[in-house]
Amino acid sequence: MSYQPLLEEQAIRTRVRELGKQISVDYEGKELLLVGILKGAFIFMADLIRQIEVPVTVDFVVVSSYGASTESSGVVRIDKDLEKGIEGKHVLIVEDIIDTGLTLNYLKHNLETRGPASVRICALLDKPSRRKVSVEADYLGFSIADEFVVGYGLDFAERHRHLPYVAVLSADEYRQS
Ligand code: IMP
Repeated sequence: MSYQPLLEEQAIRTRVRELGKQISVDYEGKELLLVGILKGAFIFMADLIRQIEVPVTVDFVVVSSYGASTESSGVVRIDKDLEKGIEGKHVLIVEDIIDTGLTLNYLKHNLETRGPASVRICALLDKPSRRKVSVEADYLGFSIADEFVVGYGLDFAERHRHLPYVAVLSADEYRQS
């Protein structure tokens, strides 16, 4: 199997550090709740949180919309919800990639109904050309072209999450889906 690296480890590390700094400045004097979307965001979130200098807590949701396919079904469902309420809290959703935008659009609106002080989005990657609904990241790592990528937490049929860089999935493997 061949991978075409798209974002090298060093480039990711540098950008994550910049994002952490910006977040620390913007939330100075506040407490932050990072809400990671599992499973894809687990590596990004682990690296990002170590670059954040304001008091921070974490929680996770599991949201499904994809299954084993590379095309979004358009159906979004919360499979595992937050452990605690978020009333009055500054929430930052951490996502691996924004594609159609359906997942984040749904989750952001859902969390906003729970009375938080604020809800923002931090995404490692964005494929703006694929957008079906209007949703933007307040903090974004990289904007990329319409290619299916894996690694650094992102999977294809649950594989490749362990790669320390982001790679374009080989056409061969993509076709077998
Ligand atoms: P959206 O709801 O279409 O924005 O889909 C977002 C979710 O789709 C992400 O959290 C990923 O799990 C998945 N996804 C979208 N594009 C890719 C990709 O290129 N590689 C891996 N997963 C992807």
